[in-house]
Amino acid sequence: MGDHTTPSLAAAVSNSGGLGGLGMWGFSGEEAERRVAGFRQQSGGGLNVNYPLWDHAGDLTDIGGPMRKLVQALYDSKNAGPIPEPKASVGVVNQEHLAMLEKMRPEVVSFHFGLPDAETMDAIRSLGIFVISSATTVAEARQLEAAGIDAIIAQGTEAGGHRGTFTKTDISMQPGLFALLPQVVDAVNVPVIAAGGIADGRTIAAAIMLGASAVQLGTAFLRCGEAQILDAHREALRNASDDSTVVSNVVSGLPARFVKNRLIEELTEPGVEPLPFPAQMAFMAPLEDTGDGAVAPLYSGQSAHLTREMAAADLVSTLAEETNRCFSQY
Ligand SMILES: Cc1cc2nc3c(=O)[nH]c(=O)nc-3n(C[C@H](O)[C@H](O)[C@H](O)COP(=O)(O)O)c2cc1C
Repeated sequence: MGDHTTPSLAAAVSNSGGLGGLGMWGFSGEEAERRVAGFRQQSGGGLNVNYPLWDHAGDLTDIGGPMRKLVQALYDSKNAGPIPEPKASVGVVNQEHLAMLEKMRPEVVSFHFGLPDAETMDAIRSLGIFVISSATTVAEARQLEAAGIDAIIAQGTEAGGHRGTFTKTDISMQPGLFALLPQVVDAVNVPVIAAGGIADGRTIAAAIMLGASAVQLGTAFLRCGEAQILDAHREALRNASDDSTVVSNVVSGLPARFVKNRLIEELTEPGVEPLPFPAQMAFMAPLEDTGDGAVAPLYSGQSAHLTREMAAADLVSTLAEETNRCFSQY
């Protein structure tokens, strides 16, 4: 979960029997190493480090005029000054990060939006690191398996954050977890990790019954004290109901699920496209700095209402107890 994850959040999860994750998005190799070292100081457990992958969008100078106007109007309403000039970037595991992985040896590397090139995959796998990535359809799961992945995260549409799709599948045609998970389990021979809408023992037990070997939770951990999020974001998660969220591409340029707020409403206009991912996100930092939940991005899955405000270690042990109770009742 990018910079919402902290070494103390990941350590608390790993120390209580889960596998903590640290987002590497936007961090230099040196910063990444400091993050992993921070985790190692607090935990002797396993660690997953995560890399979202994307291509360079090319020259952005003259594109996105209508979107820039919409964003500027939002800035003006908050006295946030002129909008910044976004820069194109590329999401890869570069040499600096490969050196960091070689030195720090996290147990797991996960990817979002597909997989890196074969050379990078080989370099990571030659370190003995377990590699996983998200699939939003059976076809994507098959592609990941063919590329030699160790396990697949089946990401249902309920999930918070970005849709992990890498085949440009129409978002409205992507399945929810109940439909996706058993079909992925039937289609591949590697373990499947269920993600999307899982927030308590009942939803974990259901995923296991549908064939999951493990579960991945995002939104539920946003409410832990160790997560780095705005107070307004916590409040939005606390007040969310089943129909509070929407999938939109206006925050980053790629579809992701958020609590619907003024930000999403005012940047959604027919015919107005966001800048390519992740350039559109350059507009978000000053809006987040206002601390105002109306104009900051509020990433959330559809099960926010089932999540609880508690320390991460307590959450992991509560989830385990609840899951065991579910299985002992049936
Ligand atoms: C705030 C937020 C940020 C996320 N960022 C990432 C990310 O950087 N990389 C990634 O692989 N998945 C990311 N995800 C998606 C999660 O890996 C996972 O699929 C999702 O959280 C599961 O659904 P849930 O939110 O209903 O638990 C993010 C999710 C959230 C809520």
